[in-house]
Order: sequence, then structure tokens, then C-alpha cells
Amino acid sequence: MASLDRFRIVGGMPLHGQVTVTGAKNSVLKLMAASLLAPGKTIIRNVPAIADVEIMAELLTRLGCTVESSLGMLTIDVPEVPDHRADYDLVRKMRASINVLGPLVARVGEAEVALPGGDAIGSRGLDFHIKGLEVLGANAHIEHGYVIAKAPKGLTGAPIDLDFPSVGATENIMTAAVLAHGVTTIDNAAREPDIVDLGEFLISMGAKIQGLGSSIITITGVEKLSPTDHTTVADRIITGTWAFAVTMAGGDISILGARPEHLELPLEKLASSGAVITSIENGIRVRMNQRPQSIDVATLPYPGFPTDLLPMVIALNSIADGHSLVTENVFESRFMFVNELIRLGAQINVDGHHASITGVNQLSGAPVEAHDIRAGAGLILAALVADGETTVDQAFHVDRGYPNFTEQLQGLGAKVTRE
Ligand code: UD1
Repeated sequence: MASLDRFRIVGGMPLHGQVTVTGAKNSVLKLMAASLLAPGKTIIRNVPAIADVEIMAELLTRLGCTVESSLGMLTIDVPEVPDHRADYDLVRKMRASINVLGPLVARVGEAEVALPGGDAIGSRGLDFHIKGLEVLGANAHIEHGYVIAKAPKGLTGAPIDLDFPSVGATENIMTAAVLAHGVTTIDNAAREPDIVDLGEFLISMGAKIQGLGSSIITITGVEKLSPTDHTTVADRIITGTWAFAVTMAGGDISILGARPEHLELPLEKLASSGAVITSIENGIRVRMNQRPQSIDVATLPYPGFPTDLLPMVIALNSIADGHSLVTENVFESRFMFVNELIRLGAQINVDGHHASITGVNQLSGAPVEAHDIRAGAGLILAALVADGETTVDQAFHVDRGYPNFTEQLQGLGAKVTRE
């Protein structure tokens, strides 16, 4: 059973060679959901081989789509009238299921989507999603564990102010507003590259959107959209994970397919830690030949430091030279995994949303457990530099976001097996 799988890692090997980064999990899942907006065959390329893509494919299949997958390409055939209900048994596995909400209300005038599960990183409300749809004229509420939204006469464009630049809410509002009557503006919109990728996907379907990548997005509704063919943006969090890995373990790796412009702050921080980062054709090269210096980091919405790289920062600081302060500003429970790092010998004190870390010379291998995708990756990085053997249980969390992680690590010279 996948849930019993674990990684077994023997630390101490530097990393050498090259890895290829494919499309971003946090983009491709949204593109898949947005394909519901047009009947017919949409093609999505550069699709990562991760468990969450399979879950979203199953969800779309249950909504009446036919989904075919081959060599990093998905073909999604969307019916004239998709079903409108996304059941709990699937939605519980993955937060991004909520992204079918906007497209379904816009396309079929109603949606019933179970309240999602996903990572154990803190409470993740849906109030901005629901309020946004209400401002567009839908009747939306939560009932018996489902978000129910209805707009039988269609949606009407309107100005929407977000209290926080929520990625998911910006996406659901965008994918609802593209088929609304009139103009919608989203003020304090999220600016992540995933939002830009989704916006460009929608534009290629015929949507009218301005301001992508800025805090104000303007959407002029159109009557209908057409299927499209789109290549998913590269995964900046996986790129960052590899860059942190080599900065911790030492060595010299090329990360092909990387888009360094989406990772300016993390790469600057790694450079200040001692890594030498250069642009190469189709990616970046990261070299490290010293003990890392500790780095102070505060996470913020894009273009701030990504919260999804927080576990990697803490792992790095736990073996770096010096004392550091790391502040989490997006999710309340991201520090839950710190206890696992402490099992490896890290010296970390958590106070509210701050962690203060004193780097130790060496971590020591022990059995630990992943609680979410990124925490799992952070623990694997710590294991790569720990003395002796570490096992990381609950490997399925990592499978949700990192394609072929074991094979890619092995290819760089790490001693990792999957059992
Ligand atoms: C997405 C990413 C996740 C990333 C996060 C922030 C996916 C599948 N997940 O999550 O990996 O860490 O962006 O970059 O793309 N909030 C509310 N009410 C709402 C919506 C959000 O209070 O209606 C709060 C959340 O609880 C959280 C914060 O806003 O504290 C940020 O959430 P949001 O940006 O929406 O993240 P997700 O889209 O869930």
C-alpha cells in the first residue's frame, strides 16, 4: 500500500549531475480544472508524473470528461454539459479539487464541491472563494460538508477586493469571471507564476484578461471559450528544492527546465548562503563547496519568499553555520514538521510563527515521518546530510508533488531507496 511506503536514505553524499524540472503541480491542476470551461479536447503538455494529477484526472472523469495521458501530455475531452458534483472521497485527498468550483458555476450554473482536505499545514478557509462568487451573483454557501454555488442565470462581472492575495481564490474568481456578463476586477489578486500560467491558458481559450502578474486583474467576460493546447510552466518549488539540496549536501548540479526568474528571492538567499548559481542554456547550475551560512527568511505571497520552500530553509539552517530566524506568514501550522527535524538532532525553537535555529555541525539519522508534501521533501534534504541512515515514512505525501524523486536523487549520487 502506498501509504506504507518509506524512503531510506544514507547521508553524506554530495550531489553531482543534472535533473530536469517538469510542469508545476500548482499550475497543472488548475489548468486541468479550467479545461471544464470549454467543451471539446484540451491538450496540456509538460505534465508532471505525480499522484495529484491522477486524482484531478479521476475527478474530471467523474464530472463526465474523458482524460487520456501519454508521455507528459494530457488530453481532456470535456462534454457539452459536465456533471456538477465533486464528492468527498476524492476531494479530501487534494486541496486543489476546489478549483473546479469556479469553472462549474460559470459553465453549468451550479457546483457542489466537498470541502477539501490536503496538507496538514493549518486551517485553509474558503471564505474568499465563496465571497468572490457571491459578488459575481452566485448564491454560494456551505452545507453538509459541501460548498454549494448556484447561478442559474449566469454570473455578472463586478469589482472584488481580496483581504489576502489568496492563490486559490484568485483562480476560482478568474475562472468564474471569464464567462460572466461584463467586467470583473480582482484587487489584491495573487501574483504567483501559477496565476499567470492559468491566465495565459484562459486567454488562449479566448478569455479577455489584463494585469496578470500584477495585483489588479481585469477580466472582461466572453460568451464562450474554446479548447486549447498549452504547455505548463516549470515547477519553481521543485527547482528550489534541488537548489537547496545541493547547497546543503555540496556538489555541482544543473537544473534543466528551471525558470530562475520565478525564484529570485530564494536563489539570492542561497547565494548568500555560499552557493554559486549561474544561468545555463535551459536552466541553472548550482555549485557548493563549503558549509552553508545560515539565512534569515520571512515567507510572503509572491514575489516574496514562497511558503512551500519553508521546510527546505529550516533544514538548511539546521546544519548551517550560525543562528537564524525564520518567519512563516502564510500558513499557521507549517512548523509542525520541526519536531521531526529535532529527532535528527536539529536545534530549533518555535514561538508562534517564528522559528529560531542554531545550526549544528552534523545531524544524525533516525526514523521520521512526512506530514505533507513539502515537509517530506525538507526531511529528505536533511537526511541527505545526516550521519547514517534515516527513514522518512508516509512517502505518498512526497509522491503528490515530486515526480520520480527517488530516481532523480539516485541519478545525482544520493544513497536513497524506496521501500
Ligand atoms: C496554494 C498552493 C500552496 C501554496 C499556497 C501559497 C496549490 C494547490 N496550493 O494554496 O502550495 O503554499 O498557494 O502560495 O496551488 N485563506 C483564507 N480564506 C480563503 C482562502 C485562503 O483565509 O478563502 C488563507 C489560507 O488559510 C492561508 C492563506 O489564505 O492562510 C493563503 O492561502 P492561499 O493563497 O489561498 O493558498 P492555496 O491556494 O490554498
